[in-house]
Amino acid sequence: SDGPLVLGIETSCDETGVGLVRGQTLLADAVASSVEEHARFGGVVPEVASRAHLEAMVPTLERACETAGVRLHDVDAIAVTNGPGLAGALLVGVAAAKALALGLGKPLYGVNHLASHVAVDQLEHGALPEPCIAMLVSGGHSSLLRVSDVTGANDGVVPLGATIDDAAGEAFDKVARVLGLPFPGGPHIDRAAREGTITIDFPRGLTSRRDLERHRFDFSFSGLKTAVARWVEARQATGEPVPVVDVAASFQEAVCDVLVRKALDAAASEGIEDLLIGGGVAANSRLRAMAEERATGLGIRVRVPRPGLCTDNGAMVAALGSEMVRRGRIPSSLDLPADSSLSV
Ligand code: KG4
Ligand code: ZN
Repeated sequence: SDGPLVLGIETSCDETGVGLVRGQTLLADAVASSVEEHARFGGVVPEVASRAHLEAMVPTLERACETAGVRLHDVDAIAVTNGPGLAGALLVGVAAAKALALGLGKPLYGVNHLASHVAVDQLEHGALPEPCIAMLVSGGHSSLLRVSDVTGANDGVVPLGATIDDAAGEAFDKVARVLGLPFPGGPHIDRAAREGTITIDFPRGLTSRRDLERHRFDFSFSGLKTAVARWVEARQATGEPVPVVDVAASFQEAVCDVLVRKALDAAASEGIEDLLIGGGVAANSRLRAMAEERATGLGIRVRVPRPGLCTDNGAMVAALGSEMVRRGRIPSSLDLPADSSLSV
Protein backbone atom coordinates (compact mmCIF):
# COMPACT_ATOMS: atom_id res chain seq x y z
CA SER A 1 0.00 0.00 0.00
CA ASP A 2 1.10 3.63 -0.23
CA GLY A 3 1.27 6.74 1.90
CA PRO A 4 4.00 7.89 4.24
CA LEU A 5 5.56 5.48 6.73
CA VAL A 6 4.94 6.97 10.18
CA LEU A 7 6.48 5.80 13.45
CA GLY A 8 4.50 6.50 16.63
CA ILE A 9 5.84 6.52 20.20
CA GLU A 10 3.62 6.35 23.29
CA THR A 11 4.88 6.65 26.89
CA SER A 12 2.18 8.67 28.69
CA CYS A 13 1.45 6.07 31.38
CA ASP A 14 2.72 2.52 31.95
CA GLU A 15 2.84 1.21 28.37
CA THR A 16 5.89 1.74 26.16
CA GLY A 17 4.36 1.61 22.70
CA VAL A 18 5.98 1.84 19.27
CA GLY A 19 3.72 1.59 16.24
CA LEU A 20 4.35 1.71 12.51
CA VAL A 21 1.65 2.77 10.07
CA ARG A 22 1.76 3.30 6.29
CA GLY A 23 -1.11 5.57 5.26
CA GLN A 24 -3.72 4.05 7.58
CA THR A 25 -2.45 0.49 7.31
CA LEU A 26 -1.13 -0.95 10.56
CA LEU A 27 2.27 -2.59 10.08
CA ALA A 28 3.43 -3.08 13.67
CA ASP A 29 2.22 -2.38 17.18
CA ALA A 30 4.89 -3.31 19.74
CA VAL A 31 3.95 -2.72 23.39
CA ALA A 32 5.93 -3.35 26.57
CA SER A 33 3.95 -2.87 29.76
CA SER A 34 5.23 -2.23 33.28
CA VAL A 35 1.79 -3.02 34.76
CA GLU A 36 3.15 -6.05 36.66
CA GLU A 37 5.64 -3.83 38.47
CA HIS A 38 2.84 -1.53 39.65
CA ALA A 39 0.42 -4.29 40.66
CA ARG A 40 1.73 -4.65 44.21
CA PHE A 41 1.23 -0.89 44.78
CA GLY A 42 -2.37 -1.07 43.51
CA GLY A 43 -1.76 1.74 41.02
CA VAL A 44 0.80 3.17 38.61
CA VAL A 45 3.92 4.54 40.34
CA PRO A 46 5.31 7.39 38.18
CA GLU A 47 9.01 6.84 38.95
CA VAL A 48 8.74 3.12 38.25
CA ALA A 49 6.97 3.86 34.95
CA SER A 50 9.67 6.33 33.79
CA ARG A 51 12.48 3.88 34.44
CA ALA A 52 10.61 1.06 32.71
CA HIS A 53 10.11 3.27 29.61
CA LEU A 54 13.86 4.00 29.51
CA GLU A 55 14.67 0.31 29.59
CA ALA A 56 11.99 -0.74 27.12
CA MET A 57 12.34 2.02 24.51
CA VAL A 58 15.11 0.65 22.29
CA PRO A 59 14.01 -3.02 22.39
CA THR A 60 10.41 -1.99 21.61
CA LEU A 61 11.60 0.17 18.69
CA GLU A 62 13.60 -2.76 17.34
CA ARG A 63 10.69 -5.15 17.75
CA ALA A 64 8.33 -2.82 15.84
CA CYS A 65 10.78 -2.44 12.92
CA GLU A 66 11.36 -6.18 12.81
CA THR A 67 7.63 -6.97 12.78
CA ALA A 68 6.94 -4.42 10.03
CA GLY A 69 10.01 -5.48 8.04
CA VAL A 70 11.28 -1.90 7.76
CA ARG A 71 14.44 -0.08 8.76
CA LEU A 72 14.43 3.19 10.72
CA HIS A 73 15.82 4.91 7.62
CA ASP A 74 12.59 4.06 5.74
CA VAL A 75 10.48 6.11 8.18
CA ASP A 76 9.03 9.34 6.75
CA ALA A 77 7.83 11.00 9.97
CA ILE A 78 8.01 10.53 13.75
CA ALA A 79 4.94 11.09 15.93
CA VAL A 80 5.01 11.12 19.72
CA THR A 81 2.55 11.62 22.56
CA ASN A 82 3.56 14.89 24.24
CA GLY A 83 0.62 14.99 26.70
CA PRO A 84 -1.45 14.62 28.73
CA GLY A 85 0.10 11.99 31.00
CA LEU A 86 2.79 11.43 33.63
CA ALA A 87 5.49 14.09 33.20
CA GLY A 88 8.54 11.84 33.61
CA ALA A 89 7.04 9.09 31.48
CA LEU A 90 6.15 11.51 28.66
CA LEU A 91 9.70 12.92 28.72
CA VAL A 92 11.22 9.56 27.83
CA GLY A 93 9.08 9.21 24.70
CA VAL A 94 9.52 12.83 23.65
CA ALA A 95 13.32 12.63 24.05
CA ALA A 96 13.46 9.41 22.03
CA ALA A 97 11.29 10.90 19.27
CA LYS A 98 13.42 14.04 19.05
CA ALA A 99 16.60 11.97 18.84
CA LEU A 100 15.12 9.93 15.99
CA ALA A 101 13.76 12.96 14.15
CA LEU A 102 17.10 14.73 14.42
CA GLY A 103 19.19 11.66 13.58
CA LEU A 104 17.06 10.61 10.61
CA GLY A 105 16.36 14.16 9.43
CA LYS A 106 12.60 13.53 9.45
CA PRO A 107 9.72 15.73 10.71
CA LEU A 108 8.49 15.42 14.30
CA TYR A 109 4.78 15.58 15.22
CA GLY A 110 3.68 16.00 18.83
CA VAL A 111 0.24 14.43 19.28
CA ASN A 112 -2.41 14.67 21.96
CA HIS A 113 -3.01 11.39 23.78
CA LEU A 114 -6.80 11.80 23.86
CA ALA A 115 -7.05 12.56 20.14
CA SER A 116 -4.89 9.55 19.33
CA HIS A 117 -7.33 7.28 21.25
CA VAL A 118 -9.87 8.50 18.66
CA ALA A 119 -7.64 8.34 15.57
CA VAL A 120 -6.66 4.71 16.22
CA ASP A 121 -10.10 3.53 15.14
CA GLN A 122 -9.30 4.19 11.48
CA LEU A 123 -6.68 1.45 11.53
CA GLU A 124 -9.54 -0.99 12.09
CA HIS A 125 -12.72 0.57 10.68
CA GLY A 126 -11.49 2.97 7.99
CA ALA A 127 -11.80 6.75 7.67
CA LEU A 128 -13.11 8.42 10.82
CA PRO A 129 -16.65 9.72 10.72
CA GLU A 130 -16.24 13.47 11.28
CA PRO A 131 -17.99 15.00 13.07
CA CYS A 132 -18.39 12.35 15.75
CA ILE A 133 -18.80 12.18 19.51
CA ALA A 134 -15.86 10.42 21.15
CA MET A 135 -16.07 8.98 24.64
CA LEU A 136 -12.66 8.18 26.13
CA VAL A 137 -12.71 6.05 29.23
CA SER A 138 -9.51 4.75 30.79
CA GLY A 139 -7.57 4.61 34.03
CA GLY A 140 -6.52 8.23 33.60
CA HIS A 141 -9.39 9.94 31.80
CA SER A 142 -13.13 9.96 31.20
CA SER A 143 -14.06 12.53 28.59
CA LEU A 144 -16.72 13.32 26.05
CA LEU A 145 -15.38 15.13 22.99
CA ARG A 146 -16.90 16.56 19.84
CA VAL A 147 -14.48 15.73 17.03
CA SER A 148 -14.72 17.47 13.67
CA ASP A 149 -10.97 17.31 12.88
CA VAL A 150 -9.01 14.75 14.85
CA THR A 151 -5.72 16.63 14.30
CA GLY A 152 -7.18 19.38 16.46
CA ALA A 153 -6.87 22.04 13.76
CA ASN A 154 -9.67 24.65 13.60
CA ASP A 155 -10.91 23.70 17.07
CA GLY A 156 -11.53 20.24 15.72
CA VAL A 157 -11.52 18.56 19.12
CA VAL A 158 -13.87 20.20 21.62
CA PRO A 159 -14.27 18.86 25.18
CA LEU A 160 -17.96 18.60 26.14
CA GLY A 161 -17.40 17.10 29.57
CA ALA A 162 -15.10 15.04 31.77
CA THR A 163 -14.96 13.39 35.15
CA ILE A 164 -14.98 15.76 38.09
CA ASP A 165 -13.27 13.19 40.34
CA ASP A 166 -12.18 9.59 39.51
CA ALA A 167 -11.76 8.27 35.98
CA ALA A 168 -14.00 5.34 35.00
CA GLY A 169 -11.09 2.88 34.94
CA GLU A 170 -9.93 4.14 38.32
CA ALA A 171 -13.39 3.30 39.72
CA PHE A 172 -13.11 -0.22 38.26
CA ASP A 173 -9.66 -0.61 39.81
CA LYS A 174 -10.70 0.69 43.25
CA VAL A 175 -13.87 -1.41 43.41
CA ALA A 176 -11.88 -4.47 42.33
CA ARG A 177 -9.57 -3.86 45.27
CA VAL A 178 -12.55 -3.68 47.66
CA LEU A 179 -13.72 -7.02 46.25
CA GLY A 180 -10.25 -8.59 46.61
CA LEU A 181 -9.66 -8.82 42.84
CA PRO A 182 -6.17 -8.12 41.33
CA PHE A 183 -4.95 -4.87 39.70
CA PRO A 184 -5.82 -3.66 37.13
CA GLY A 185 -9.35 -4.59 38.14
CA GLY A 186 -11.39 -3.77 35.03
CA PRO A 187 -11.01 -7.10 33.24
CA HIS A 188 -11.58 -9.03 36.51
CA ILE A 189 -14.82 -7.14 37.25
CA ASP A 190 -15.91 -7.69 33.64
CA ARG A 191 -15.38 -11.45 34.02
CA ALA A 192 -16.94 -11.68 37.50
CA ALA A 193 -19.98 -9.67 36.39
CA ARG A 194 -20.78 -12.23 33.70
CA GLU A 195 -21.39 -14.79 36.46
CA GLY A 196 -23.45 -12.38 38.54
CA THR A 197 -26.90 -10.77 38.67
CA ILE A 198 -27.69 -7.08 38.95
CA THR A 199 -29.24 -7.08 42.42
CA ILE A 200 -28.06 -3.78 43.95
CA ASP A 201 -29.13 -0.34 42.79
CA PHE A 202 -25.90 1.68 43.08
CA PRO A 203 -25.97 5.49 42.55
CA ARG A 204 -25.63 7.05 39.08
CA GLY A 205 -23.39 10.11 39.55
CA LEU A 206 -24.41 13.52 38.16
CA THR A 207 -27.71 12.35 36.69
CA SER A 208 -30.19 14.17 38.94
CA ARG A 209 -32.09 16.99 37.28
CA ARG A 210 -30.17 19.49 39.37
CA ASP A 211 -26.74 18.05 38.55
CA LEU A 212 -27.61 17.87 34.87
CA GLU A 213 -28.06 21.65 34.77
CA ARG A 214 -24.37 22.21 35.52
CA HIS A 215 -22.84 18.85 34.65
CA ARG A 216 -24.84 17.46 31.73
CA PHE A 217 -21.79 15.86 30.08
CA ASP A 218 -19.58 15.44 33.15
CA PHE A 219 -19.03 12.26 35.14
CA SER A 220 -18.48 11.47 38.81
CA PHE A 221 -17.52 8.00 39.99
CA SER A 222 -16.14 8.62 43.46
CA GLY A 223 -19.59 8.49 45.12
CA LEU A 224 -20.29 5.17 43.41
CA LYS A 225 -16.96 3.75 44.57
CA THR A 226 -17.74 4.80 48.16
CA ALA A 227 -21.26 3.36 47.94
CA VAL A 228 -19.84 -0.01 46.87
CA ALA A 229 -17.24 0.05 49.66
CA ARG A 230 -19.94 0.88 52.26
CA TRP A 231 -22.20 -1.89 50.95
CA VAL A 232 -19.40 -4.45 51.15
CA GLU A 233 -18.39 -3.30 54.67
CA ALA A 234 -21.99 -3.55 55.88
CA ARG A 235 -22.25 -7.07 54.49
CA GLN A 236 -18.93 -8.08 56.07
CA ALA A 237 -20.15 -6.76 59.44
CA THR A 238 -23.02 -9.26 59.36
CA GLY A 239 -20.54 -12.10 58.90
CA GLU A 240 -22.28 -13.21 55.72
CA PRO A 241 -20.18 -13.82 52.59
CA VAL A 242 -19.92 -10.95 50.07
CA PRO A 243 -21.62 -11.88 46.78
CA VAL A 244 -18.64 -10.69 44.69
CA VAL A 245 -20.14 -11.49 41.29
CA ASP A 246 -23.42 -9.69 42.06
CA VAL A 247 -21.62 -6.60 43.43
CA ALA A 248 -19.40 -6.61 40.32
CA ALA A 249 -22.42 -6.86 37.99
CA SER A 250 -24.35 -4.14 39.85
CA PHE A 251 -21.36 -1.76 39.97
CA GLN A 252 -20.54 -2.33 36.31
CA GLU A 253 -24.18 -1.68 35.36
CA ALA A 254 -24.14 1.66 37.19
CA VAL A 255 -20.92 2.81 35.45
CA CYS A 256 -22.02 1.69 31.99
CA ASP A 257 -25.50 3.15 32.39
CA VAL A 258 -24.13 6.63 33.11
CA LEU A 259 -21.46 6.47 30.40
CA VAL A 260 -23.83 5.34 27.68
CA ARG A 261 -26.63 7.69 28.74
CA LYS A 262 -24.37 10.75 28.64
CA ALA A 263 -22.61 9.77 25.40
CA LEU A 264 -25.93 9.31 23.60
CA ASP A 265 -27.27 12.54 25.09
CA ALA A 266 -24.16 14.35 23.75
CA ALA A 267 -24.75 12.88 20.28
CA ALA A 268 -28.42 13.93 20.36
CA SER A 269 -27.63 17.42 21.61
CA GLU A 270 -24.97 17.98 18.92
CA GLY A 271 -27.06 16.34 16.18
CA ILE A 272 -24.29 13.81 15.54
CA GLU A 273 -24.94 10.23 14.43
CA ASP A 274 -21.58 8.59 15.11
CA LEU A 275 -20.27 7.63 18.52
CA LEU A 276 -16.74 6.36 19.00
CA ILE A 277 -15.66 4.77 22.29
CA GLY A 278 -11.99 4.35 23.19
CA GLY A 279 -9.58 3.90 26.10
CA GLY A 280 -9.02 0.81 28.25
CA VAL A 281 -12.56 0.70 29.68
CA ALA A 282 -13.93 0.48 26.12
CA ALA A 283 -12.75 -3.13 26.29
CA ASN A 284 -15.60 -3.76 28.78
CA SER A 285 -18.05 -6.26 27.33
CA ARG A 286 -21.13 -4.79 29.03
CA LEU A 287 -20.26 -1.26 27.91
CA ARG A 288 -19.90 -2.37 24.29
CA ALA A 289 -23.17 -4.32 24.33
CA MET A 290 -25.16 -1.60 26.10
CA ALA A 291 -23.89 1.19 23.81
CA GLU A 292 -24.71 -0.87 20.73
CA GLU A 293 -28.17 -1.78 22.01
CA ARG A 294 -29.28 1.71 23.09
CA ALA A 295 -27.70 3.51 20.10
CA THR A 296 -29.42 1.35 17.51
CA GLY A 297 -32.85 2.46 18.68
CA LEU A 298 -31.76 6.10 18.25
CA GLY A 299 -30.23 5.68 14.79
CA ILE A 300 -26.72 6.28 16.13
CA ARG A 301 -23.77 4.22 14.86
CA VAL A 302 -21.21 3.03 17.40
CA ARG A 303 -17.56 2.30 16.65
CA VAL A 304 -15.29 0.66 19.21
CA PRO A 305 -11.77 -0.47 18.27
CA ARG A 306 -10.76 -4.00 19.24
CA PRO A 307 -9.53 -4.21 22.85
CA GLY A 308 -5.82 -4.27 21.88
CA LEU A 309 -6.21 -0.88 20.19
CA CYS A 310 -8.30 0.58 23.07
CA THR A 311 -5.51 0.32 25.64
CA ASP A 312 -2.45 2.58 25.27
CA ASN A 313 -0.21 1.69 22.32
CA GLY A 314 2.11 3.22 19.73
CA ALA A 315 -0.11 2.48 16.72
CA MET A 316 -2.61 5.10 17.88
CA VAL A 317 0.11 7.73 17.87
CA ALA A 318 1.28 6.67 14.40
CA ALA A 319 -2.35 6.73 13.19
CA LEU A 320 -2.81 10.34 14.29
CA GLY A 321 0.67 11.31 13.04
CA SER A 322 -0.19 9.87 9.65
CA GLU A 323 -3.39 11.93 9.58
CA MET A 324 -1.37 15.07 10.42
CA VAL A 325 0.99 14.38 7.51
CA ARG A 326 -1.91 13.69 5.13
CA ARG A 327 -3.77 16.86 6.16
CA GLY A 328 -0.63 18.99 5.80
CA ARG A 329 -0.29 20.01 9.44
CA ILE A 330 2.90 21.87 10.38
CA PRO A 331 5.46 19.65 12.17
CA SER A 332 6.53 20.42 15.74
CA SER A 333 9.88 22.05 16.45
CA LEU A 334 12.63 20.13 18.24
CA ASP A 335 11.75 22.25 21.31
CA LEU A 336 8.48 20.32 21.64
CA PRO A 337 7.72 20.20 25.38
CA ALA A 338 6.25 17.22 27.24
CA ASP A 339 3.10 18.70 28.80
CA SER A 340 1.52 16.54 31.51
CA SER A 341 -1.72 18.57 31.48
CA LEU A 342 -1.96 19.17 27.72
CA SER A 343 -5.58 19.90 26.83
CA VAL A 344 -7.38 19.07 23.59
O1 KG4 B 1 -6.24 3.06 28.33
P1 KG4 B 1 -5.60 2.26 29.42
O2 KG4 B 1 -4.87 1.01 29.05
O3 KG4 B 1 -4.56 3.12 30.21
C1 KG4 B 1 -4.83 4.41 30.66
O4 KG4 B 1 -4.58 5.38 29.89
O5 KG4 B 1 -5.32 4.51 31.81
O6 KG4 B 1 -6.75 1.93 30.49
C2 KG4 B 1 -6.52 1.14 31.62
C3 KG4 B 1 -7.82 1.04 32.42
C4 KG4 B 1 -7.64 0.34 33.77
O7 KG4 B 1 -8.29 1.12 34.76
C5 KG4 B 1 -8.35 -0.99 33.56
O8 KG4 B 1 -8.91 -1.51 34.76
C6 KG4 B 1 -9.42 -0.62 32.56
O9 KG4 B 1 -8.80 0.28 31.68
N1 KG4 B 1 -9.94 -1.77 31.82
C7 KG4 B 1 -11.21 -2.21 31.91
C8 KG4 B 1 -11.30 -3.38 31.12
N2 KG4 B 1 -10.08 -3.61 30.56
C9 KG4 B 1 -9.26 -2.61 31.00
N3 KG4 B 1 -12.27 -1.72 32.59
C10 KG4 B 1 -13.42 -2.37 32.50
N4 KG4 B 1 -13.59 -3.51 31.77
C11 KG4 B 1 -12.56 -4.05 31.06
N5 KG4 B 1 -12.75 -5.15 30.36
ZN1 ZN C 1 -4.86 6.30 27.29
